[in-house]
Order: sequence, then structure tokens, then C-alpha cells
Amino acid sequence: MCGIVGYVGSHVDGAALDVVMEGLARLEYRGYDSAGVALVADGTLATEKRAGKLENLRQAIIDHPLPPSSTAIGHTRWATHGGPTDTNAHPHRGGADGKLALIHNGIIENFHPLKERLVADGVKFLSETDTEVAAQLVAREYEADRDLTQAMLRAVAHLEGAFTLLAVHADSPGVVVGARRNSPLVVGLGDGENFLGSDVAAFIGHTRHAVELGQDQIVTITPDGYDVIGFDGEPTEARAYEVTWDASAAEKGGFDTFMEKEILEQPHAVADTLLGRVDPAGRLVLDEVRIPEERLRAVTRITIVACGTASYAGMVAKYAIEHWARIPVEVSLAHEFRYCDPIVDENTLVISISQSGETMDTLMAVKHARELGAQTLSICNTHGSTIPRESDAVLYTHAGPEVAVASTKAFLAQITAAYVLGLYLAQLKGGSHAEQATTILAELRGMPDKVQTVLDRMGRVKEIARFMADTRSVLFLGRHVGYPIALEGALKLKEIAYIHAEGFAAGELKHGPIALIEPGQPVFIVVPGPDTPHDLHKKVVSNIQEIRARGARTLVIAEDGDEEVVPYADEVIRVPHSSPLLQPLLTVVPLQVFALHLATAKGLDVDQPRNLAKSVTVE
Ligand code: F6R
Repeated sequence: MCGIVGYVGSHVDGAALDVVMEGLARLEYRGYDSAGVALVADGTLATEKRAGKLENLRQAIIDHPLPPSSTAIGHTRWATHGGPTDTNAHPHRGGADGKLALIHNGIIENFHPLKERLVADGVKFLSETDTEVAAQLVAREYEADRDLTQAMLRAVAHLEGAFTLLAVHADSPGVVVGARRNSPLVVGLGDGENFLGSDVAAFIGHTRHAVELGQDQIVTITPDGYDVIGFDGEPTEARAYEVTWDASAAEKGGFDTFMEKEILEQPHAVADTLLGRVDPAGRLVLDEVRIPEERLRAVTRITIVACGTASYAGMVAKYAIEHWARIPVEVSLAHEFRYCDPIVDENTLVISISQSGETMDTLMAVKHARELGAQTLSICNTHGSTIPRESDAVLYTHAGPEVAVASTKAFLAQITAAYVLGLYLAQLKGGSHAEQATTILAELRGMPDKVQTVLDRMGRVKEIARFMADTRSVLFLGRHVGYPIALEGALKLKEIAYIHAEGFAAGELKHGPIALIEPGQPVFIVVPGPDTPHDLHKKVVSNIQEIRARGARTLVIAEDGDEEVVPYADEVIRVPHSSPLLQPLLTVVPLQVFALHLATAKGLDVDQPRNLAKSVTVE
């Protein structure tokens, strides 16, 4: 999704361009299809923009050098209105003299009528974007008093939809103005220089002092400071904070891909997400939950809203919360939530799960839930992002920045946070629920070591993946908490290896999908531990026999010591023993490693798979 960088410094040299290009490189992980910059220099505006990777922009700037400057904005675009072309790339110019440049993340929903009015007034448009409308509006307003902040303020009053906008004007050197509604923007504070970014990665190489902006706010940065006003024009306070990770955490750290690095960081992601959650008496403490305990005790139902991988974390959460806290849980894809006329009231807790905290589908589901009177709690990995800010409470996962488009460590951290929440709700219920919570919590604290054990054993999985580089289809089966893991295994393979993959509940096989099994068909099976209630283990072993008898090549993920699977397995991938509900933290790891190494064997761009963006900020 679009990345945004703004910079003002006190010296007119090459720094502004360098800072903005570096910021865009750090934001590459968000996914993009074109990039551009604008600089203010000597009363003129210089821009360069190119479709494709940042390298194309770099080459264009080498071919046509830009003047030294102290004021710059930069943008990586993920196309929504208008294809990914040089012309549609941002920045867009505004005004008859073209002296204003503007970049945008989001969608301006009413751009058609606005454009019609501007065209009727004689404004000429060059691109097919909604953004150019905003550029022309801000430029027109600038003519009234030549104050860029006031021009932005008046322009946003016309806009509907979601947007972060940054603007510079040739006649206002040393000033960048930003505005945000339902789209991310943070301020970075330097010494004699200040920054704006879609997230702190944009300026983390220069400062860790950041300022969180609220909804419907406008920020003006100069080399000496920043000012924030609301869309009502009134000055407003913004919260300053320190970023706790540094630039190296957002770099590959010696690995070939971010995805590999992030898979290997998973023991830390789980451990860090548990950090500070337990008091000396072994009881859970959730400081960030701002919903009063009596409100939480009154919760009669829970709905989890999320998309993609995060929704699979939600499915694992359903099994765990229902079992531990005995509260009914429903999992809804966030983009379907509003349309199913959800039954939600003040005793419903709506839990959103989102790595980025910016997924528009999830944000809209949270807003709808609040309108219906629900309590909302966000499980999120990104401080200062929009979804936690729109929620009554937040439980942050501490996975650190996730750069690879395919989610891995955030998934484990989301499941961990969901466990913590489930145990907390069980603890609030008291009695036997609370006792059980204490036992599970002790086991949960040992899970990072077990995740590490799985990672240490991945040699054979990597080999299998390399042998299977030509495979055209892979199936994944699981039951109970193994079912969402089967779905996640299939999603990982689809998104980074471009292989057709399906995940099924193993019990569903006989109701149709078993017809897909033909000799040689590879099938991963996530096997529950032998002590899982309701003879589930035996039932899954029978499922393996059924597909093996029809020629499937069975790749079985089973616990240490589970010998019953051996006669029916072409390969056995071992994970340490755990309580049934905690098993997903272990069984998903071989599936991530498999997808990573198969995609690598195919020579694919693992970190930035085609057609995908890290942060999906449109509906
Ligand atoms: C898949 C993946 C996506 C995200 C989904 C939600 O690997 O990363 O399916 O899980 O787009 O994103 P967040 O968690 O940022 O809301």
C-alpha cells in the first residue's frame, strides 16, 4: 500500500532527496507499483516519478539530476484509481502554474463530482487519479492567502473517504503540510530537521522521537518544529513517544529474505508478546485493556474480525477462548462483517486482529461494531496505527516490524496474544476456569523454546520443498486448531509460491474434496496430539489412511513419540508435545518454512509476491 515520506531540514543541499529516497526504500515492504519525489528549490518545484520499482526512479534521477533542496516529499504508490503508469504516479501537481505538489494514500470517494466541478472551472487534468483532484483543490485554496496549512484545511473540508495527504509549494520552502483521515501518518522529530511518514520506518534511520497524529488532523512541519490542528481549525495536542526498535530491526540482518529472518524471529515474537503480562503471583496483567473489568465480566459473546492470516489466528482464538472462558466466539472475515447484519450489543466484545493496524476492511468492521454499541478490543502489532486508536482497548503483539508481505511472526504473536486474552477472560470468571488459566499460562511461557526446537529441525522440510519445486497443487488437512493451520499453510504457499493450494477440515474430506486425491498428490496433514480429547487423533490417523489408500503422498506433522502415524506417512515432520490448544504455535512453522523454500527454489521474490501489498488500506 502507498508509502509516504516528507522532510524539511535547515540546509539546502542533497540531504532532502537522500532522506526521502531512503525513507521510500524502507517503506518498500508496504508494496507498490510506482514511485516519485518532489523537491522545493529556489522558488521552483522539481518532480520525478516512474512506474515500477524504486530503481527506475533512481535511474531517472541520475539521468535528470534534481536541484539541491531542504524540502521534499516522496511516495510509493499502489494503484487504485488509474493504472500504474508514470503519469498516474505521485506526486501530482496542482495550480495553473503547477507550483504545488501533493502525494496521497487512500481513496477520495467523491472525486468524480469534485473533478467535474474543477473541469467546469477550466482545470486541466493529466492523470486518471483521485489524487490529482486533491492537488488541484489545495492549489486553488492556496491562492486565497498563500498559507499552505490553511489551504489544506479548506481543501480537506471537500473530501470524503480515506486519505493521508502531504503537500509542498514552490513558494513555501521549508514547509511540508500533511493531513490524515482513516489513513496513517506519523511525525518524526529531529534536530533542525523534521519528518513525516506512513510509519516510523520512513525515518527510523534518523530519529526515534515520534509523534502520533489523531484522526482528522493537519500537521505542518518546518525545520524547527511542528504544529497540529484539527479539521475544525483548532490547535490540538498530539502524543509524543519513543520508537523502541532501531533501523537494523527493519533490515534483513544478513538473511537472504525478510521472510526467512522473520520466521527465525518467532521464538522472540512469542516470548516478547508474553512479556510483562504476568504479575509476581502468576496472574495475568493486561495494562492496555481500558475496558473496565465489570464490562468484560458482562461479555456474553465475542466476535473476532480480521482478514487473511489474521483471521486464521482468530479461528485458533475461537477454540481457545471458548474452551478456557466458556464464552461463545464467532469469527467473521472483516470485509463480510457489516454485510451479514451482525447481532452485536453492548455485551458483545468485538476483537479485531491486525498486524498493520491499517487494514481498511478490519477498520471499517471495528467502526461498525462501535456504532452498534459493542466493546472493541484490538490485537495489533503496530503502535500508533489506526485500528487500535479506533478501539476501546488494545493488546499489542510484540513481534517487531514485519516487512515480508507474507505474515509469519505476526501470526504467532497474534495467536499468543489471543491466548493471553482468553486466559485473562477465564481468570476474570474465577473458579476452575482461573485455575486452568494458571496451568496453561505456565505452559505458554515454555512455548518459545519449543518453537525454537521446531526451527532447529527444519533441514528435511527444506529438502522436501526443494524437491517439490515443480509441484502444481498441494492440499493441507487439519482438525480442531489444526484446521486454521491447514488454511494458513495453503495461504502461504499460494501467496509466495503461486501454487494452487487448499486447506480443508480433515473431517470434510469425505464430503467432497477426497475426489481431488489422485496418485502422487502431496497432502500435508496436521495431526493433533494423541491426548487430544474426543479421540481426535485416531480420527485424523484414519483420514491419513483414507487418502494414502488413494495414492496421496502424505506429509505428516505429528508430535514427538506419535508412532501411530508412521505406517501411513511418506514423511513425518516432528514437533514437540504441547497441550492441544497450544499446538498451532508449533505446527504452522514447518508449513511456513516449506512455502519459503519452495518459493525460493522457484526463484521467486519471496518478500514481495506479485499483486500483493503488506498493508491493504482500501476496501
Ligand atoms: C498473508 C497476510 C495477509 C494479512 C491480511 C491482514 O500472509 O499477511 O493475509 O494477514 O491482509 O493484514 P493485517 O494483519 O495487517 O490486518
